[in-house]
Amino acid sequence: MAAPLISPSILSADFAQLGEEVRAIDAAGADWIHIDVMDGHFVPNLTIGPGVVKALRPHSAKPFDVHLMVSPVDIYLEAFAAAGADIITVHPESGPHVHRTVQAIRTLGKKAGIALNPGTPAKMLDYLIDEIDLVLVMSVNPGFGGQSFIASQLRKIEAIRKMIEKSGRAIHLEVDGGIDAVTARQCTSAGADVLVAGTATFKGGAGRYAANIAVLKGVD
Ligand code: DX5
Ligand code: ZN
Repeated sequence: MAAPLISPSILSADFAQLGEEVRAIDAAGADWIHIDVMDGHFVPNLTIGPGVVKALRPHSAKPFDVHLMVSPVDIYLEAFAAAGADIITVHPESGPHVHRTVQAIRTLGKKAGIALNPGTPAKMLDYLIDEIDLVLVMSVNPGFGGQSFIASQLRKIEAIRKMIEKSGRAIHLEVDGGIDAVTARQCTSAGADVLVAGTATFKGGAGRYAANIAVLKGVD
């Protein structure tokens, strides 16, 4: 099994020095940079807007993996694309026409992802799978870092891996929430190839980031 890509969530970084934190995880071996955008409405927390994404863009050349937890979402796609997002992931519940939202992301020249909440079935992907570049399985309810992994999502990861294989398309299968050394292994065994990790990346401070990422990749 290939080592997963690691996309550290900067939600767990020191917000007083975000640029330095992004440079530190880049140097420590992060593959992507996961940016959690929350609107205080779709989820009960407020975080980052396109201005911050733009300000961070010069600090890393790695893909910006932007997870939008915003409703309605369509009106913000262009701003995040212009700010430097490479992958834009949306929740099907965050607008009335998810297929149109995916088309809009791709028209902007960005990769499109669909995020599935723990209660949202894999079946939601049936008529989207041919249009998307990434599926994000939420293994916690979105809104906060530091929550416990919901084990029932492993079955969903397995089911989606089968759907992706059947589609014959190159679609990333990413998991977000409660990832640690143990759950990372469970997710990759179930078929995930990208892991988001906030708490597990940033714990212990900058001196630990490389070791923390190596543990998640399984090369410790
Ligand atoms: C939750 C966010 C996650 C979160 C992960 O809504 O989408 O990206 O930051 O944090 P950990 O890794 O701490 O569970
Ligand atoms: Zn996220």
